[in-house]
Amino acid sequence: MITAAQIRSMKSKKKIVMLTAYDFPTARLMDGIVDIMLIGDSLGMVVLGYENTTKVTMQDIIRAAESVSRAAKSSLVVGDLPIGAYENKKSAFKNANFLLNAGAHAVKIERKPEIAKFLAGRGIEVMGHIGLTPQTITNFKLQGKDDESARLLLEEAKAMDAAGCFSIVLECIPSELAKKITKSISIPTIGIGAGAHCDGQVLVTHDILGLFDAFKPKFVKRYADIGNEMKKAFELYAKEVREVKFPSDEYSFH
Ligand code: KIV
Repeated sequence: MITAAQIRSMKSKKKIVMLTAYDFPTARLMDGIVDIMLIGDSLGMVVLGYENTTKVTMQDIIRAAESVSRAAKSSLVVGDLPIGAYENKKSAFKNANFLLNAGAHAVKIERKPEIAKFLAGRGIEVMGHIGLTPQTITNFKLQGKDDESARLLLEEAKAMDAAGCFSIVLECIPSELAKKITKSISIPTIGIGAGAHCDGQVLVTHDILGLFDAFKPKFVKRYADIGNEMKKAFELYAKEVREVKFPSDEYSFH
């Protein structure tokens, strides 16, 4: 099983591979291929059909964490603390422990270095997340475009590093800024829409498989078209049932 310490030591040596996973069968296929399986609150959109991540609850993430961790034999399992679950140190600690008890090895939080420090100080492995942080930023646009916002992001990354995070996600920021941040902090950066200079990359699994088509950000590369394959199978099954071609003798008992 890969540990958070091993992920930390991969900085500048070996690219870190992370994808989202929300269920047992997907995690079983993915385990050992990626370094980290993330139970992201993107589950709200790609699994539960919400418009954004703000309705995701601890219960949603806990159920997914239990399923993914049952399949995880070698990848590190990281669970998102959803919006409202880390408003203060007490709730952050309580909810982080719920996630660890559900089988996650570490938690991810958006911004809030003071909360990261509190959790890390109590032995909880924390992944930070800055840039486009969907729990609080509603305009899904490139972040850190001007000098001042780029400076603030660099400061934020340094604060998450100093707080004791073992890695940090940089979402939707210019490649040059991600490079500068990556060089300026001691922990690995994992980019999504942040260019090739990060220490690792993450994407949402449903996006790369063509299972989510409500929108496709520029940074998403589609590696397969599973959505269309599923649709074709549903159509063929429906046709065969309607035409009484299924079940044939081969699939019947006598
Ligand atoms: O929720 C999520 O899937 C994430 C990744 C996009 C990093 O936070």
